[in-house]
Amino acid sequence: MNLEPTLAQLRAKAPGMRPRIAVVLGSGWDAFSGQLHDTVRIPYADLAGFPMAGVAGHRGELLLARFAGHAVAVMSGRQHAYETGAVDAMALPLRALHAMGCDTLVQTNAAGSLDPAMLPGSLMLVSDHINLPQRSPLVGQVGPQRFVDMAKAYDPDLRERAQALALDLGLRLHEGVYLWAMGPQFETPAEIRAFAMLGATAVGMSTVPETIIARHAGMRVLALSLITNMAAGLSDETLSHAHTLAQAQAASERAGAMLAALIQAIATEKDHHA
Ligand code: HPA
Repeated sequence: MNLEPTLAQLRAKAPGMRPRIAVVLGSGWDAFSGQLHDTVRIPYADLAGFPMAGVAGHRGELLLARFAGHAVAVMSGRQHAYETGAVDAMALPLRALHAMGCDTLVQTNAAGSLDPAMLPGSLMLVSDHINLPQRSPLVGQVGPQRFVDMAKAYDPDLRERAQALALDLGLRLHEGVYLWAMGPQFETPAEIRAFAMLGATAVGMSTVPETIIARHAGMRVLALSLITNMAAGLSDETLSHAHTLAQAQAASERAGAMLAALIQAIATEKDHHA
């Protein structure tokens, strides 16, 4: 993978910018971008190797900006595996941001809940994931490094910090296992019953490939889910993308506050002085 053309474009658009934190904004998490300063907006179409993000509610642009005085790289929108079948769509963007200096990836998404006590509007910290499709963005990688240890894929220290911040903010932050379903169709009630038996707390169509790519690159990963609906069969509502976006909108303020506190805390860690 040749990162040089992309890195040259990034250096030209935001000279001297050296972000340490990469953030992926999924459905419902866009409010955070309003808190950025000195924002350089770069449509993915202007960056070599960045994929189009073709889903409503996702803008498809990279924001190189400052937040609370620290440089951050915010990806507003991601390409999902269900768009083209490619599970490594986000590999080049993530590797480019890593090469720019990002050592931490904070991911956000919208997800359905399998836990009757975790209602729409809830926030969930991802403690672990289930790669149900068993597809890997690392196919084609060579060398022993491809055999990535996934035992602590979602950084335990960052998770602890996130819970402490949630307590400070007076927010309930659920914690659980995110199961990646390929989509784009929603799940059947029978599938959801099966996923519950496998140990899933929430289900969604993203995040897992990016976590694998980031762990392979050596980045720390943290992921937050905004629960937009009860998973299929757990309520009478009809699932749709519009419903996901409407629910996400309703919870976006809390989601934005949680994310802002988290990024600030990570940015001010003692070795994060970008
Ligand atoms: N299933 C899969 N993906 C989702 C869901 C769901 O119920 N809600 C939001 N993203």
